[in-house]
Amino acid sequence: MTPHPFPLTLWSEAVYSRRSIPATLATGASAPGAAPGAAEADPVVLPAGLPGGRRFPLAAPPLRLRPVRRGRSAGPAGLADPAVLAALLHYSCGLIQHDLTPGGWPLHRAVASARCRYPSELSLVVPAPGGGHRAAAVYRFDPLHHQLALLQGAVGDEAATDPPGGAGSARFLVITSRFARTAQLYGDYAPRLCAQEAGMLLGAVHLVAAALGLRTRPGLDREILLALCDGWTPAGEHPMGYLELGDAPPTGSAPQAAVPGAPEARRPWIPPDAAAVLRARHSGAAIFDPEPVAAPRALLDDLGAALATAPSADFSCHLLVRQVAGTPAGHYVHTGDHWRPVRDGDPVPLLERIGQTEGRVSLNFRTVACVAYLAVRRGTALARSGADAFRQLHLSAGAAAHLVCVVAARHGLTARVHNGYDAATAERLLGLTVDEETVLFQVAIGAAKPAAGFRLPVVF
Ligand SMILES: Cc1cc2nc3c(=O)[nH]c(=O)nc-3n(C[C@H](O)[C@H](O)[C@H](O)COP(=O)(O)O)c2cc1C
Repeated sequence: MTPHPFPLTLWSEAVYSRRSIPATLATGASAPGAAPGAAEADPVVLPAGLPGGRRFPLAAPPLRLRPVRRGRSAGPAGLADPAVLAALLHYSCGLIQHDLTPGGWPLHRAVASARCRYPSELSLVVPAPGGGHRAAAVYRFDPLHHQLALLQGAVGDEAATDPPGGAGSARFLVITSRFARTAQLYGDYAPRLCAQEAGMLLGAVHLVAAALGLRTRPGLDREILLALCDGWTPAGEHPMGYLELGDAPPTGSAPQAAVPGAPEARRPWIPPDAAAVLRARHSGAAIFDPEPVAAPRALLDDLGAALATAPSADFSCHLLVRQVAGTPAGHYVHTGDHWRPVRDGDPVPLLERIGQTEGRVSLNFRTVACVAYLAVRRGTALARSGADAFRQLHLSAGAAAHLVCVVAARHGLTARVHNGYDAATAERLLGLTVDEETVLFQVAIGAAKPAAGFRLPVVF
């Protein structure tokens, strides 16, 4: 029997401690057991396609994301419009920036990834006619070449010749993860990072689909996920999550509900000039050491609105505010779409006790604007879903974490997802429910100093 990709011990080995991180990480050498020089060593290797399989170049991604309208013109609408599919894939999973700094990580996707390993893959699944979730055709997005590669389905099949398919029919974007890419450096810690990153990608697809006016419904259901991935998932690639996509709902109809458990169906928060914001998002320099400048109050308003319409409501957000205009420093909790104060006062002592890596403070908390901690109800989820709770909760919190990064970018700020924190200390100091709530993400926000590197936008 295939072992579950998220054994229950992962909570203690990779969330509550960092025991599974190999000592070699500090030197950047391969983790013990990882095959040096294997194809997985290169994080931008071409995704596998069918041998000699067909590739579909995508249209150039538009410089602006605008909602598509059904039947707006004589041309193709919604997903059948090549520009819409290209925009959806590029702004959620595409290569956005090229970093020319010597010795740096050269290629950056739209979603953050620990040491730019990019284990997540995004595939467009066209279900077989007649209902159900089994794939008739599968197209793998190749961010490096901005193409789709046919993974399953014979050329000549109706479903396999036209990637987006006919307007109006449901399509799925499926997230899988190649743990080996990240395990090359991180060893047994990789499943944790891969689960976090899959969640962030889910949040990215959800946001970009909404910006394009597409109907989108992310799902957590494991049975549907396995059915969608059945028969084509390459060896060593793990099914992580999916979103159902459709064309824009008729004008005036209510927005779609998100995953079950979402409190209300509301139009997702979308930044003005979303494309420019998504192109500008970045995690900052190697060491997170921002300028000590106050963030605008609008940062908190946007964070509140964005988190209130996250794809899943299965998380809470605690914000430790150091320097935000018009806002007393202190501890706040996201409630509804606003911030409820918990405690006033300088949060730096708390931040420096929570945010530690092997006994050292992880980043310069003394100059951040604020730090978001995303917590989940682990106890309840474990009782409900057992080992799969790990995947589900990381998807929910990860989607929210990406929104935090995008909100920061919308205000010209940098957001850094940083796993250097002590989960037990975070629980205690943030006042989380004992044996129930767990922090899965620490995201620091600040004003990046001018970097020594050069990053250019990638243009297709
Ligand atoms: C799940 C996750 C965990 C991360 N953990 C750390 C960390 O512990 N320390 C750190 O310095 N950066 C961490 N990062 C930041 C990444 O290294 C950064 O996102 C990557 O360099 C890509 O940069 P970009 O977002 O500017 O494209 C993490 C990122 C992700 C997505």
